[in-house]
Amino acid sequence: MSILVTGGAGYIGSHTVLYLREHGEDVIVLDNLSKGHKDALQGAAFYEGSLHDEELLDEVFGKHSIDSVIHFAASSLVGESVTDPLSYYENNVMGTYHLVKKMVEHDVKHIVFSSTAATYGEPKSIPIKEDDPTIPTNPYGETKLAIEKMLKWNDQAYGLKSVCLRYFNAAGADPEGRIGEDHDPETHLIPIVLQVALGQRESLKIFGNDYPTDDGTCVRDYIHVMDLAQAHYLAVQKLRNGSKSAVYNLGNEEGFSVKQVIGTCREITNRTIDAELTPRRPGDPAVLIASSDKAKEELNWSPVYPDLKSMVSHAWGWHCGHESGFGE
Ligand code: UFG
Repeated sequence: MSILVTGGAGYIGSHTVLYLREHGEDVIVLDNLSKGHKDALQGAAFYEGSLHDEELLDEVFGKHSIDSVIHFAASSLVGESVTDPLSYYENNVMGTYHLVKKMVEHDVKHIVFSSTAATYGEPKSIPIKEDDPTIPTNPYGETKLAIEKMLKWNDQAYGLKSVCLRYFNAAGADPEGRIGEDHDPETHLIPIVLQVALGQRESLKIFGNDYPTDDGTCVRDYIHVMDLAQAHYLAVQKLRNGSKSAVYNLGNEEGFSVKQVIGTCREITNRTIDAELTPRRPGDPAVLIASSDKAKEELNWSPVYPDLKSMVSHAWGWHCGHESGFGE
């Protein structure tokens, strides 16, 4: 039995593909390479194309014995989603519509969906639990939540079982340095800080120091990308074992402020990293920290690299070896 991974050439997708293959799974990737990188696939079976191409989906599901899909393919920039919401509805909601329609037609019964902490919006309490209110504050989170609901109704109607994984802040890279994070433009904190350490940027901007946190900067729960990969693998096994649909948070249940992250990066890289204070970035909640008890109990998920230093040092290893990313 094979697993179809949509968006498998992207950051979290490619690390999951690597993890699945190293655990003996047969993997087929579908990616339109709009953001992903062919070299990130490390030789995995690959179809280049879009989720909107139903003929291509027919071909993929027709040719391979696919029993499970892990669905990453999506637009995922919060800021961009606010200025261009329609493209988020088109790529994320409509893309998933075509995928799920074809899964139903081809009788594929399991989907693991890449969801996000952005489904919660501004949290009412910390740590955030899966049954806390979901009130997204941007179209990105709104489209991911719409897909979670689409999956729920498709379970009821067609018996399509889903696991929705709500990630907090993905970080790090393959510990062996084969693949890592390469976005263009880069918007995420850790790779930006490491670009400053490498001399590729003069300094970074700290978006606001007037939040109600200890040092005034935003606090996030960082989670190693290989630990996210492990959770996807476990979610597929759980669905294969006949479990019912479920939603899980994936984080380390510990918060680090922007200033703490920069401090850890200075420690690991031993380089000068200049940072300047700027006003808040619109839409950033002050604190996002997950409760991940449910994933630990029900998926037997056990993060291997829960410490921020491992995440930064693996990311640093990748960036030092690949100063221009995948170089495409
Ligand atoms: N930050 C800076 N300077 C930068 C970049 C980021 O100060 O140059 C700050 C942000 O304001 C935020 C923190 O660093 O407080 C983390 O920012 P990221 O952009 O790295 O990550 P986000 O928390 O904004 O986003 C992540 C995921 C999104 C997801 C969101 C859920 O990348 O996909 O969490 O809230 F939607």
